[in-house]
Amino acid sequence: MYSKTVIDRFQNPHNAGALRGANAIGEVGNAACGDIMKIYLKINDNGVIENAKFKTFGCCAAIASTDMACDLIKGKTIDEALKVTNKQVIDLLGELPPHKIHCSILAEESIKAAIEDYYKKKEKEIKKSVKKPIKYV
Ligand code: FES
Repeated sequence: MYSKTVIDRFQNPHNAGALRGANAIGEVGNAACGDIMKIYLKINDNGVIENAKFKTFGCCAAIASTDMACDLIKGKTIDEALKVTNKQVIDLLGELPPHKIHCSILAEESIKAAIEDYYKKKEKEIKKSVKKPIKYV
């Protein structure tokens, strides 16, 4: 059975939907069940996650876990968000049935994928700015 918190998060997620202005997007899937999780982050210039939202083709546990994870990482730095684990998410949800633990891993993995996307975009920006020709006067 699911905890009251899981049911509530599933029925009334706080962070469902795409995020306008997201500068980091992570998408992961679970090959075993075929579910897909996409997370959107807005990270400011100080490396703080200002907002997080998600879209999914996933089960109740995946929705509740990712919704909780989004709340958990808002206001955190990138380094702090990278330390968020599915175990922390499960603790906040109360519990998950053992055969649904893997669903919470999608939340953790999608955050990591989004942060990887953020760094890739930053790297591209830096390379682009370095390639600008130097003008001699
Ligand atoms: Fe696939 Fe939950 S059964 S993520």
